[in-house]
Amino acid sequence: MNSRQLETVGYLIMKRQDIKDLLASKDFDQPVHTKGWIRGERGNAYVRFLGLNDGSSIQNIQVVADAEKFDENLRKRFNVGAAVSITGTLVESKGKGQSVEIVAEKIEILGDADAETYPIQPKAHSMEFLRENAHLRSRTTTFGAIFRLRHALSFAIHNYFNERRFYYWHSPILTASDAEGAGESFRVTNFDIDDFDAIPKIAEGENKGKIDNKEDFFGQTTNLTVSGQLEAELGALGLGRVYTFGPTFRAENSNTARHLAEFWMVEPEMAFHDLKDNMDLVEDFLKYLIKYALDNNREDIEFLDAKFVKENSQKKKTERAEMGLIEKLEFVLANDFKRITYTEAIDVLMSSKHYKKGKFQYDVKWGVDLQSEHERFLVEKHFKTPVILYNYPKDIKAFYMRQNDGEEEGKETVAAMDVLFPGIGEIVGGSQREERLDKLQARTDEMGITEELWWYLDTRKFGTVEHSGFGLGFERLILFITGMGNIRDVIPFPRTPNNLEF
Ligand code: 4AD
Ligand code: MG
Repeated sequence: MNSRQLETVGYLIMKRQDIKDLLASKDFDQPVHTKGWIRGERGNAYVRFLGLNDGSSIQNIQVVADAEKFDENLRKRFNVGAAVSITGTLVESKGKGQSVEIVAEKIEILGDADAETYPIQPKAHSMEFLRENAHLRSRTTTFGAIFRLRHALSFAIHNYFNERRFYYWHSPILTASDAEGAGESFRVTNFDIDDFDAIPKIAEGENKGKIDNKEDFFGQTTNLTVSGQLEAELGALGLGRVYTFGPTFRAENSNTARHLAEFWMVEPEMAFHDLKDNMDLVEDFLKYLIKYALDNNREDIEFLDAKFVKENSQKKKTERAEMGLIEKLEFVLANDFKRITYTEAIDVLMSSKHYKKGKFQYDVKWGVDLQSEHERFLVEKHFKTPVILYNYPKDIKAFYMRQNDGEEEGKETVAAMDVLFPGIGEIVGGSQREERLDKLQARTDEMGITEELWWYLDTRKFGTVEHSGFGLGFERLILFITGMGNIRDVIPFPRTPNNLEF
């Protein structure tokens, strides 16, 4: 079909097709129309080959532009990064690596990209460089794959719960409570804090002269939520099964590859579930999500797998992962998670050669909070499979966790569970909740939060029942499934200490 014929079929009214659909099409020698960004450009004086991508697929479609059809001034603008509109004919490709290509009849530049100044060139950029250019990094193959997976897994989470009659529950973002009691909340205020003198102060009493939060917008101190759990419990204790999926905020100053100040958490909460039911659910849920990604985003994962394998081979032998990405995901699907108590884990750690040779940086003994070096030892060196650790010492866990009965003094535990994944460490934290009013109130009294949590305690006064739930760190899941090394690279705009760009 030549351009005159194309003109007569009226390409101006042709519908634009996604590149993914064109790549799968067998309608050869038909006129087609698409738009996208040039990702690669090569050729010679007679013909230019453009690799075009519109985000619908990890694959580019090749556009063949014969020099004679396009004048030199236009050809000069075929730069990587430019947005173009293409009309042409879909043909079976003779070249290797693609099955179809478009022979262009009409190319329109929608938005130029200057080859000298456009930062994203078709070459390997460092992750640090791409973080500084986070406004453009969705145009790279790697980040296209990651963000398509982020979408697919969000969708899969809703699917999973919807199919099992969990209701999507919207816990508030603005809150007065610190659900985890860790003091890591971001404060929110409507005071004009740049004008300290103008902020209302308490007039008398022992707090005289301190800021009077009663005069603030909500009439009390206000935080961004660290977890939607407490409110999700209220939902579960009426609707049966609910889940939240939303942003949560933590002002923990841990500048690590696993922590964000703003991250997304998935928190199912279920009435009539004990800790065992909770463990069964979390294992089934995580396997469902991994399988969903393998089944639905195969090309993206294959690309990330190849990248992972290549980077892994360049690492020092001692730091190398034993499995490729797909191999690791399939391994998790095929094997039961190892379930052991905290007490058993301490025994494993203390009888390890690693411990005896003094190789752990942090102390190991019953009662300590496990550090990530300990968690990773258990998962990566000892059990070599995902681990669910449960029944943690009461003193290192949150106030709402259910106290286990009949334990010797000083060795009391709560029905907590953490899921530990290879290469990640803690991916999920959860527990059975304390449903007995007296026990719960003893804890809230200790912490001085009984008054402010009156509504939470109320659910234990009226129709209280055993219930459980957990929180999955969504970015840690994406880290695991993409094989990426830094949590800043699995969320479009990471928020970490001293970093609020974009
Ligand atoms: O273990 P956490 O603190 O548990 C809770 O917040 C409970 N309220 C959950 C519940 O039972 N409903 O956090 C849960 C998970 C962690 O296992 C981790 O995956 C993730 O949230 N997480 C973070 N992810 C990224 N950056 C951070 N700063 C995170 N803190 C926790
Ligand atoms: Mg935790």
